[in-house]
Amino acid sequence: MRLRKVKGAEEIVQNSDYVIKEPIMNKGRYKELFGNNNPIHLEIGVGKGKFIVEKALNCPDINFVGIEKYDSVLIRALEKVKDVKIPNLLFINDDASNVDAFFDREIDTLYLNFSDPWPKNRHEKRRLTSEKFLNKYELIFKKKPHIIMKTDNRKFFEYSLKSLVDKEYKIEKISLDLHEDNYPDNIMTEYEEKFGSKGSVIYMVEVIKE
Ligand SMILES: C[S@@+](CC[C@H](N)C(=O)[O-])C[C@H]1O[C@@H](n2cnc3c(N)ncnc32)[C@H](O)[C@@H]1O
Repeated sequence: MRLRKVKGAEEIVQNSDYVIKEPIMNKGRYKELFGNNNPIHLEIGVGKGKFIVEKALNCPDINFVGIEKYDSVLIRALEKVKDVKIPNLLFINDDASNVDAFFDREIDTLYLNFSDPWPKNRHEKRRLTSEKFLNKYELIFKKKPHIIMKTDNRKFFEYSLKSLVDKEYKIEKISLDLHEDNYPDNIMTEYEEKFGSKGSVIYMVEVIKE
């Protein structure tokens, strides 16, 4: 994502009730933060937040946490919710490389939507489906690790499938053309709308680890 610094973004993010200010201090406290014991779904790299906001509105019995590392991007998600109170939605403005410091076996499902593919080999460790990240995710899931990813990048999709299967994830669902296949409940992300409308094929996989 090309990033334009937005003046005042840091302050807006810091003052938002939707944003967890000290995520490390809140590790293990999500039951208290949400005020219930509902399942928690996490999205890493929420971007402008369309997916997670719609998910939270559609599924009031699931709690949603979205991580986004750039405040200039996260404010676009916060703008979407500034006039509504969505009690089952929170955000973290930080790098997901710290994800295992934020959650203590509290997550039920992880969404990775149109993650940056980092195509150069020397950047492999930055990919959100690299072994490094998959090892961290193992520490955040409550029970069976459950990941749903979507991307328009074929090479990144193939890399991710191999990485997940190498870690003994089992494929529950897979689509090599999500918009052609019948997924009526699919909620589109900003990237998905943009690239889907230009004719890009969208890949999706849902995996679980016993
Ligand atoms: C290509 S965009 C996709 C945004 C959104 N998921 C969508 O599909 O429209 C990837 C987003 O992930 C964020 N991101 C990438 N790596 C991240 C990390 N390590 N921690 C948190 N956010 C990250 C980027 O800042 C960017 O907003």
